[in-house]
Amino acid sequence: MKPHKISVIGTGYVGLSTALGFTTKDYSVIAVDTDKEKIEKINKGLLPFHEPHFQELLEKAIKTGKLSCVSTFEKAISDTDITFVTVGTPSQPDGNIDLQHIEKAACKIGKALQKKGTYHLVVIKSTVTPTTTETSLKHLIEKHSGKLCGPNFGLCMSPEFLREGSALSDVLHPDRIIIGEFDKKSGDTLEELLKEFYNKNTPPIIRTSLSTAELIKYASNAFLATKISFINTIANICEKISGADVALVAKGVGLDKRISPLFLNAGLGYGGSCFPKDIKALIACSKTLGYEPELLESVENVNKIQPLKAIELCKDLLTNLKGSHIALLGLAFKPHTDDMREAVSIPIINQLLKEGANVTVYDPVAIPNAKSIFKDKIKYAASAIQCLKKADCCILITEWDEFKKLKPEDFTKNMKKPILIDGRRIYNPNEFGKKLLFKAIGLGQ
Ligand code: UDX
Repeated sequence: MKPHKISVIGTGYVGLSTALGFTTKDYSVIAVDTDKEKIEKINKGLLPFHEPHFQELLEKAIKTGKLSCVSTFEKAISDTDITFVTVGTPSQPDGNIDLQHIEKAACKIGKALQKKGTYHLVVIKSTVTPTTTETSLKHLIEKHSGKLCGPNFGLCMSPEFLREGSALSDVLHPDRIIIGEFDKKSGDTLEELLKEFYNKNTPPIIRTSLSTAELIKYASNAFLATKISFINTIANICEKISGADVALVAKGVGLDKRISPLFLNAGLGYGGSCFPKDIKALIACSKTLGYEPELLESVENVNKIQPLKAIELCKDLLTNLKGSHIALLGLAFKPHTDDMREAVSIPIINQLLKEGANVTVYDPVAIPNAKSIFKDKIKYAASAIQCLKKADCCILITEWDEFKKLKPEDFTKNMKKPILIDGRRIYNPNEFGKKLLFKAIGLGQ
């Protein structure tokens, strides 16, 4: 059987991960984007963001002609038989999902489908709130193509669960595949492609309605975010109890198979391109439907306050922030990425500046992104040690491996005052607590 020909609309994180994933096997992919500069970059084999393994994969895919990036939809639709839609669905200021990019993409897919004589499957991978695929996107494609969903083109909603920093492994070895389908033919076509791609390693596949698939994505992210706000709540309680340590509480709780130890790392809260916007969108969607999702609102509120715990702990040891020199280790919303979207480092830096502190930062890869946000309001160090020089206090924000290797002496020798706030629980309190003025999230003293 000839492998399916694939197109991907939108070359952001999800789009490029999807496209590059297919090129690891015998598939050719046409990617579409509206950003001319980005298209040029991709066609030269230059990755527009930081992600392990992707630079090599992209170079190979471009060299072998398995991936090409274009600006128009016509060729992408006419020359392929399955299109994955992976454009961004950001938040509006009120928290509601912003569907303008995906609705524009649906119109353009519709227009391009007009001229096509054969069956084409459209798969929505972008995160969209329940019923969007059926009530909005399907109608836009039908309207602009003059064709009927079902007999003329197929429609699926198959959410992605990619984690930044491990996108390749998540694409190649997903825990599960969700196929939300408009009709059986749409679902069969996508299942056939994915079984062909994963072969013996095909994970469990759940076939469902379009809106159930849409909700599975939100429910997954909301549950993980709930676990994080839950353990951060326990961490905040631990801090009030002498001798209590959230890291050990999480270990003890996580060994219960019904709970699992994953996503129970207490810290300064969750950030990134997904959790914050998806929780907001699910809350807004639920309210529109007439249900007040109090649990999710609490998850969000806990997370809003959590970054400022770093400053609270800092003030316990350093009475006056005004004029002090604070070193921040880590800027990205998590390790192995340069992504600073909704990173907790942003509210922490803003608050430190507001209170009159001088801020010096270091991150192995996120400094260029930080420069575009903070310009010359803060100082940028070239290494962790340089960042610590003459600082009155250090706050560990992102748990990069290179920070885990630092010893108490690295802090005592370089800082003006050896004050360390461990915002991600990477340092052993028994060791660091003896040699430094040390505070950590969830550590009762
Ligand atoms: C997440 C989901 O995991 C993924 O399935 C979805 O497709 C997109 O959103 P990602 O944003 O890449 O992926 O990051 P993730 O590893 O889930 O971490 C999200 C945030 O939670 C980070 O800021 C991280 O530091 C924080 N986190 C995670 C914790 O604070 N504690 C934990 O135990 C785990």
